[in-house]
Amino acid sequence: MHKIKVEDKEFEIFLENDTLNKRIRLLGIQINVDYEGKCPLFIGVLNGSFLFMADLIKEIDVPCEVAFMRVASYEGTSSSGKVKELIGLPENIEGRDIIIIEDIVDTGLTLSHIIKTLKEQKPASIKASALLLKPSALKHEIEELEYVGFEIPNEFVVGYGLDYNGLGRNLTDIYRATEG
Ligand code: IMP
Repeated sequence: MHKIKVEDKEFEIFLENDTLNKRIRLLGIQINVDYEGKCPLFIGVLNGSFLFMADLIKEIDVPCEVAFMRVASYEGTSSSGKVKELIGLPENIEGRDIIIIEDIVDTGLTLSHIIKTLKEQKPASIKASALLLKPSALKHEIEELEYVGFEIPNEFVVGYGLDYNGLGRNLTDIYRATEG
């Protein structure tokens, strides 16, 4: 088993880049079908979504725009439960078809907060895509979460944009924390 260390923590290989890309290609096809004739605005939630956004957007062939925003709400390996300020929210999303791009949905607090805030600006529609979802950690049902890459167990993962204490975002594959 391919193991790595990020700072003080040991991780083992979980989802290889090839597996990620195959799934992302399918998500792209689904979005292309659903948004035919429209011009969606993809809003990536930084920092974790940057690689997922880059790969997903290359699969999109309807006209589209891309923006990024930021939320600071997470430290270490367990969700703090507190959503802080949303930074860099795009202006003028009234009447737009919005697709929020998240790296991972854990409790769902971050994404539901973003959706609630964006809805105040009256977009025509709002959907979300997350590369990873931990269904057993979910505390907030999110009906807008339409495009999920992989449902995973409630384990801490790192790589492909996801970090552990700021590190590991550059890893091409996704790794999960080994026990102990
Ligand atoms: P939520 O608000 O609990 O859904 O947390 C969402 C955010 O927590 C994600 O955007 C990530 O930044 C972070 N997060 C949750 N689980 C993990 C993980 O396993 N690895 C790295 N970051 C995570």
